[in-house]
Amino acid sequence: MGFGLLVILLYMRILGIETSFDETAAAVVENDSSGKFTLLSNVVASSADLHMQYGGVVPEIAARSHIESILPVIEKALTDAFPSNKLARPGLAKSELWSNIDAIAVTRGPGLSGSLLIGVLTARTLAILHNKPLYAVNHVLAHPYASFITSLGESFAKGLTLSKFSRQLVLPQNQPKFPMLALIVSGGHTQLAFFDDHSKYSVLGRTTDDAVGEAYDKVAKILGLPFPGGPSVEKLAIAGSSEAVKLPTPKTKNVYDFSYSGLKTAVLRSAQAAIGEDYGFPSHMLAERLSKAQKIDIAASFNQKAMEILVKKTIKAYREFAPKSIVVAGGVAASRELRRQLDEKSPLKPIYPDPKLCTDNAAMIAARAAFVIDSSDAFDPFTLEIQPNLEM
Ligand code: KG4
Ligand code: ZN
Repeated sequence: MGFGLLVILLYMRILGIETSFDETAAAVVENDSSGKFTLLSNVVASSADLHMQYGGVVPEIAARSHIESILPVIEKALTDAFPSNKLARPGLAKSELWSNIDAIAVTRGPGLSGSLLIGVLTARTLAILHNKPLYAVNHVLAHPYASFITSLGESFAKGLTLSKFSRQLVLPQNQPKFPMLALIVSGGHTQLAFFDDHSKYSVLGRTTDDAVGEAYDKVAKILGLPFPGGPSVEKLAIAGSSEAVKLPTPKTKNVYDFSYSGLKTAVLRSAQAAIGEDYGFPSHMLAERLSKAQKIDIAASFNQKAMEILVKKTIKAYREFAPKSIVVAGGVAASRELRRQLDEKSPLKPIYPDPKLCTDNAAMIAARAAFVIDSSDAFDPFTLEIQPNLEM
């Protein structure tokens, strides 16, 4: 007679809340004691279309939009995550839904103050009301954690969450291994970080001026393309020649730092030169004077160079620090040109999140919190404050 091995899995379900910029997001992540991470729901309401006419995010509009969206977004994240509760009792069985949640994690910084406030105050209130432990998360640090989620919950599998707010996602089969090199690239941040493990990490380099996504947004403005700039520049670049316009490779004191403001200025100068004007010609009048062919070539050359800079430094860091995994994260990780160049140059297959988990989301916030819950104390829901200038 043999003895069967009884393995008891413990489950932890975390509600993540993210409102640092222009996306109002909530998600429920479940992790079990075997280390498996399951995304039960992922809801994102973006106010990007409201900012489009201004060519950039307007903090006041973002904050107002968070106020309107935050509660419906959280409710949807809960009902998506636990559809049986929802189906059993139409009209939201709220206490039953909340009894499934073990902790709340919220972004406390970095980000826009007004935007962060809405998320943090909501999380604090909910933590007090429903008596849940509250954890505060650094948004930039959380970005790579989108890649630690390896399975989708029942509601995704059944397509129950196929709505305007959440769509089917493709996840990696395995979690990243440590030591991990993370390239975190978005509209607000550009940095290379090296993680020995979840709690020990260092920033190898960061941007000394503009973030890479910000440079895309500014180049898009010069070319008369819609905001956000990344996708629109990339779309236009497809038909162009990346060799057409010579652009400089910026120099930085620390080899792992980044600089994008010089590259953006070089794009401006080449656009002015293309129409035979000098540096005094106003940038907002360039788009109407440039031909389609000129715009396409500028977009292609910029797209190639902007990504080459990221790839060269990532590969250099890989050679120096020999990580076991390379994770790319943030809105710019959606770039096909970045993936093309990095896949070609990297000896190790890089891990990219699903494009919907590249841009801001709450799944990464909940996933990051899951790793620190055992080793850190919960925050006091009566006093947790935002940190708009928080660094990694
Ligand atoms: O992570 P994210 O949603 O928000 C921030 O935290 O900033 O990143 C948004 C940024 C924008 O600047 C956008 O232009 C850029 O990511 N982006 C891209 C691409 N898709 C989005 N940049 C380059 N290529 C893309 N395909
Ligand atoms: Zn971000």
